[in-house]
Amino acid sequence: MVVLGIETSCDDTSLALFSSERGIIADLTANQLIHEKYGGVVPEIASRAHIRNLLPVFSRLMAESGITEREIEGIGVSNGPGLIGSLLVGVSFAKALAFALDRPLVGVHHIEAHILANELGGESLETPAIVLVVSGGHTSLYRVETVGRYELVGNTRDDAAGEAFDKISKLLDLGFPGGPAVEKAASSGNPHAVEFPRAMLKQNNFDLSFSGLKTAVRLYVESLPALTPQVVSDVAASAQEAIVDVLVQKTIACAVHHRVSHVYLAGGVAANGELRGRLSAESEKLDITYHAPLLRYCTDNGAMVACAAARHLDMGRDDGLDLDVFARRPVTSWV
Ligand code: KG4
Ligand code: ZN
Repeated sequence: MVVLGIETSCDDTSLALFSSERGIIADLTANQLIHEKYGGVVPEIASRAHIRNLLPVFSRLMAESGITEREIEGIGVSNGPGLIGSLLVGVSFAKALAFALDRPLVGVHHIEAHILANELGGESLETPAIVLVVSGGHTSLYRVETVGRYELVGNTRDDAAGEAFDKISKLLDLGFPGGPAVEKAASSGNPHAVEFPRAMLKQNNFDLSFSGLKTAVRLYVESLPALTPQVVSDVAASAQEAIVDVLVQKTIACAVHHRVSHVYLAGGVAANGELRGRLSAESEKLDITYHAPLLRYCTDNGAMVACAAARHLDMGRDDGLDLDVFARRPVTSWV
């Protein structure tokens, strides 16, 4: 079945064509660079940009794929969580297309799509597993019993890890999105230059917190006489180290507690090299198998939505034109 996936939950307009037999046939993303000057995503600007981007991205995707619109057999669209205005644009577009082509339409939970992005490399998800979902809007630990069966076992009490990267980047004047900018600056810094706090590590649960770190970085930066390039690199490296320490230790402890032998990364922050390297190394020490999505499918993309939608469409699901959007909700199980 050839499935079109549509992702517009935040600031990326991303579409892809996927089939279970052929994998990704084509995928295309329009990033909204306009948010850079505001240091964060402005919801109203994001939804207007999706309106402008969707049709051109769709036309180019179809032209590059070499298949016709009639060959699309099902449509999947992120319908939450995310920015309501942005989600509405994608869902309206998906509905119009489903109606015009007379094809089934399914709403895909954005987090389930991030989790299933791990299958875009060609391997099925190995379960039971603990998945660390780390993005700009989410930092959660899920126990995945099997594809379609999810249990939220840990969550951030405040900021998401990606949000912390973005805010720290802003404090250091490194630009937006912050994650890649902080990672780049950190590569020439000393991760032990500043001892930033590691929140909730001693607590006997799998919850996390990053707002204290953001405040600690702000207070440290404000106490400095000047932000030299070396200081920026040292602060970036030390803050990244604090984030990665907490994420890795909580994920490993969670996997041990749940007696699973597979851990997965998912979401935009999963692109972070330090996080990937450290989680891989710590997993290996305990005979846990570490997995992460291909780099290009860590941040928001239509391919993960198409891949997840294929699972739902295969089961005969069709949400039809009543499909609604939602701002927040943990992943719900469907098997
Ligand atoms: O999954 P995503 O594209 O959007 C949401 O669902 O939120 O994640 C975006 C987040 C941003 O906060 C961005 O700074 C972060 O992922 N990110 C990274 C890296 N690449 C993207 N964080 C750390 N290191 C990276 N290399
Ligand atoms: Zn995302």
